[in-house]
Amino acid sequence: MDPVHQDFFEGGAGRERTLADNERAFERRWIVPRVLRATGERDLRTTVAGTSLAAPVLVAPTAFHRLAYAEGEVATARGAAAAGTAMVVSMAATRPIEEIAAVGGTLWFQLYPQPDLDFTEYVVKRAESAGCQAIVVTVDSPVFGRRERDLRNGFTDLPAGCACENMRDATGQVRPIAMDATVGWDRIAWLQGVTGLPILLKGILHPADARLAVEHGAGGVIVSNHGGRQLDGTIPTLDALPAVVAAVHGQIPVLLDGGVRAGTDMVVALALGAQAVLVGRPVVRGLAAGGSEGVRETLERLTGELDQALALAGARRPADLTPDQVVTR
Ligand code: FNR
Repeated sequence: MDPVHQDFFEGGAGRERTLADNERAFERRWIVPRVLRATGERDLRTTVAGTSLAAPVLVAPTAFHRLAYAEGEVATARGAAAAGTAMVVSMAATRPIEEIAAVGGTLWFQLYPQPDLDFTEYVVKRAESAGCQAIVVTVDSPVFGRRERDLRNGFTDLPAGCACENMRDATGQVRPIAMDATVGWDRIAWLQGVTGLPILLKGILHPADARLAVEHGAGGVIVSNHGGRQLDGTIPTLDALPAVVAAVHGQIPVLLDGGVRAGTDMVVALALGAQAVLVGRPVVRGLAAGGSEGVRETLERLTGELDQALALAGARRPADLTPDQVVTR
């Protein structure tokens, strides 16, 4: 891979403290297994915001897949579908949502709310028509994060021949993705008038915001710091999770992303109250290394590890894990 593009995929904001701390947060936890109770067949299935998942893991929305592999998001979707994993398609995907959906997997669509409401509605309707089952609104990006590697490399835009295909307007013109600092809670209410799909808010870290998400009718929250790519120095997602879980009182599902690298990480997040996790960079690495097969292998390895770790932790189902099964070093 072009090292400039690799820096884009692997890098984070600022001094990359949050990027590193997301993974370290998992290293700070020990699992306390239960024994002699997880008898019978294991069952990894779960339903999140109306979507049934074969396992509590989804592909996180990540941008620009054609920079990792020529076929781009179509290859990612094929690998995810082969692994039985739902994929959240980024608004910054480099293949059109219709072509990604033609693969036949389960999709959600990630949205950065755009200042042009008519265009935002147009994009949401397109995702809906393509068969996406939920809208994930990224709420941690009122402005763009300070990505030092990209600044140093002068990486500001996609190379010629590559575009954000879901940013085409009705005339076929590709619009730049705007980060809109004027977006407030009223925009979530507006979106609910535009689509009947569940709306999940991605980038929640404060329990008060999780409460507001419940009050505004969100279909779920994703505890995320954008993989350390927005505000450097934010709390690692695993450390933010328990307070968010407590704040929503089980009224809506809580998901988590950031630093999930193994089945044992998933066990920790699930035990602390996440209903599912999303995985970003590992999927891009799989894509870059082996296209759809690389994505499938990455996801099957993770779900296989989860199945085994669940058994060893004494849980038949993800929901059998309990917070007392995790202690902090
Ligand atoms: C992202 N992420 C992201 N999030 C989002 O809502 N829209 C997007 O377009 C992108 N693009 C993107 C590109 C790249 C290269 C990365 C690494 C990440 C954030 C992503 O959804 C997720 O929050 C993190 O990647 C999760 O952390 P891990 O699994 O990469 O540690």
